[in-house]
This record gives sequence, C-alpha cells and structure tokens, in this order.
Amino acid sequence: MGGGRIVAGCLAPHPPHLVYAENPPQNAPSSEGGWEQLRWGYDRLRASLAEVEHDVLVLLSPHWQTYVGTHLLGLPHFEGLSVDPIFPNLFRYTYDMKVDVDLAAAIHDEAAAAGLDVHMMTNPEFRVDYGTITTAHLTDPAWSKPLVVISSNRSRHYYSVEVMQEMMAELGKATRRAIEASGKRAVVLASNSLSHRHFTAEPEVPEDMSHEHITSHAMHLWDMRIIDHMVGGRAQRLLDEMPEFTEQAIAETDGGGLTWLMHTLGVPSYPAVLHGYGTVIGTGNAVVEWPAWKHEEAVA
Ligand SMILES: [Fe+2]
Repeated sequence: MGGGRIVAGCLAPHPPHLVYAENPPQNAPSSEGGWEQLRWGYDRLRASLAEVEHDVLVLLSPHWQTYVGTHLLGLPHFEGLSVDPIFPNLFRYTYDMKVDVDLAAAIHDEAAAAGLDVHMMTNPEFRVDYGTITTAHLTDPAWSKPLVVISSNRSRHYYSVEVMQEMMAELGKATRRAIEASGKRAVVLASNSLSHRHFTAEPEVPEDMSHEHITSHAMHLWDMRIIDHMVGGRAQRLLDEMPEFTEQAIAETDGGGLTWLMHTLGVPSYPAVLHGYGTVIGTGNAVVEWPAWKHEEAVA
C-alpha cells in the first residue's frame, strides 16, 4: 500500500492525577482540580493535534512491563476497570478501547523481521495498564481514534540503558516502516515522565497544590537540560545522554518509550514544541510535540 506517515510524535506522560483532576465520567473519584500547568499543556497538545488529520494513535507505555520480548495488543476491543495500584484513591477508570489490530500486526511483523522478540496479546480478559489508559485519555478524551499499544520490554533491568536503547532503536525504526507501509497517518506517543523521584507521602487533599514541587534541585536541572535538547532539535544528544539521565534522575525513560519515539521520528533535528511542564508528587513531566508533518516531506 504505502503512503502512510507519522504526522507527529509526542511525549505524553501518564500521571493518573491529571485524569483525577479533570473529573471525567469514566473515573470514579472526584476532585477539585489541580496540576493545571500540565493539564493546560495537554489542552495545547490536543489543539495542535486537531490541526493535522490522523487515523491512529501508536503508544508505548512503561507500565505494561514485559520481560520476554515486546508485546502488542492484538484484539480489536478491550474493556474493563483500571485501578492505579499506587493511587487507587485517585484512579478507578472504566475503559472501553478500540485497537488497530492490522497496524499492530504490521509493527509486530516488521519488528520480528528485524530480529526482535515480539508477541501479540490476544487474551480478551487482559487488563490494560493505567499508563496506556491515562495517556490515551489525555491525548484523546473522546477515544475517537483506534490505538496501537506496545509494551515496555524491561531490557534496561536485565541489561543496561545502552542495551535498551539499541533494542528501542530497532523497534522505533520497525514501527516507522510499518506505519509508512500501512497507508495510515499516525501520531506516536511515548507515555513517560522525565525525572521520577517522588514523594512517599500524599497530602490530605491530594490536589492541594501548595505541596507540589520537584523533589530536588538535581532533578530540576536534569529535566531542564533534557527539555532544552528537545526544543533545541538535539535528539541525538538526548539519546547520547540517556544513560546518565536515566540513571541519575531515576527517569521513567527506563521503559524505553522516549528512545523508541526518537527513532520512530528518525532522530529529529527540528525543534520540538514544549506544550507544558509540571511536577506530580514531585516527578517531572513534560508534554512535548515533534510536529513531523511540518518538517518532513510526505511519503508519496
Ligand atoms: Fe508511571
């Protein structure tokens, strides 16, 4: 078929607090708001994505953790109740999601041909992780687009950040090839925070923003350095510094999502757009978009 393309890539983190703060009907707890800086960032991301036609969201979540290879959701429909294991007081979300199984299978096949260990998840009772659900909700609250959902192979834990990066580079390139061959227009999403050292106690009112700030100056400096690489169009430098960042900032880039994203985009040298930055229980979170459609030639 051919003619498909990635129209945008996004860093789209998944703190359940952001969904809690929005009070959507799918989430049981209710709140008085909070974390507005990040939620306004998601507002800007959604407005930007609304400007470019796309068919599907392709997402890698660090909370779908698989130790034997990379897995992809492989049935057209999943539904259930997702409860955050750490914050059940904030996130008890009833989900009902559509999967683009054809594109998932195409990514599977491309990744397998590249020598990666990949599997399709075809258990209809499978409970989708809250990282996937939160990122999907915040990017597309109406759930208007089908999803492709890719697991996080924990190669960083068995091996190292360097091995994780090599594997995610191959997976990212395979993802791009499959999208281009599919004829579809895709938005790709890495669902992770930046610095990930968090507080161990929650205020009595979780959305009391007088308690919210970064856990340390060192974490702040790392987040700002990484964001500066993004908006400066230095994706290769970001990848080069990923081992130190991931180790020293306890960053959620350990799941491979950001490395995968950079390679789906061909390691971009154009500037990313920072839609928002904020902390959630002390972790650093940025909503960032690489608007590929403005910088890359369409595939004929
Ligand atoms: Fe997380």
